[in-house]
Amino acid sequence: MERPVPTDVEREVTPVDLIVSKSDAEGNITYVNPIFIKISGYTQGELLDKPHAILRHPDMPKVIFKYLWDNIKEGRDVVAYVKNLCKDGSYYWVLATVKMAKNPDGSFRNYMSTRRRASQKAKETIGALYTKLLEIEKNEGIEASEKAFNDFLAEQGISDSESFNSYMQNLNKE
Ligand SMILES: Cc1cc2nc3c(=O)[nH]c(=O)nc-3n(C[C@H](O)[C@H](O)[C@H](O)COP(=O)(O)O)c2cc1C
Repeated sequence: MERPVPTDVEREVTPVDLIVSKSDAEGNITYVNPIFIKISGYTQGELLDKPHAILRHPDMPKVIFKYLWDNIKEGRDVVAYVKNLCKDGSYYWVLATVKMAKNPDGSFRNYMSTRRRASQKAKETIGALYTKLLEIEKNEGIEASEKAFNDFLAEQGISDSESFNSYMQNLNKE
């Protein structure tokens, strides 16, 4: 499928919107709720069995998805801001909570992401961080970007995945 050409048009996520999807172990979409379909601009048929990267916006640094996968694979929940690309090239910001669900016998069941509107303050703070990380990735590569990301976390006093998640949640209250 051809990648949409990104535009400067932002789509509104309202305070009541809860955008949900589930995936298999590789991140391929296995379930989407109606608001996911509506905001993305794709049909359900265009989304199911496709990688979640169908929504990947070029403004998102790679290191954020590396952080996401490093943690969710280990069963640690991740709360992170994501800028997503819609079919028509517009975008929307969300605060996503991504979790691994397990079967009663403890085996992997699926990953699930629930996404809520991101606050203006969060979009500004995290948007500036992502712009910087992307720039570093382009010029110096992913390792340098990972170092800059870790420096940011250390400056905020974030030392583990729980303090990471709390920081992101608190930022959304401002
Ligand atoms: C449950 C779940 C939900 C995800 N949701 C998104 C999403 O909304 N947007 C996005 O760009 N990536 C999302 N991802 C991450 C993608 O799997 C992928 O790592 C990311 O889009 C980067 O893709 P790339 O490595 O092919 O560039 C999600 C992953 C999982 C497991």
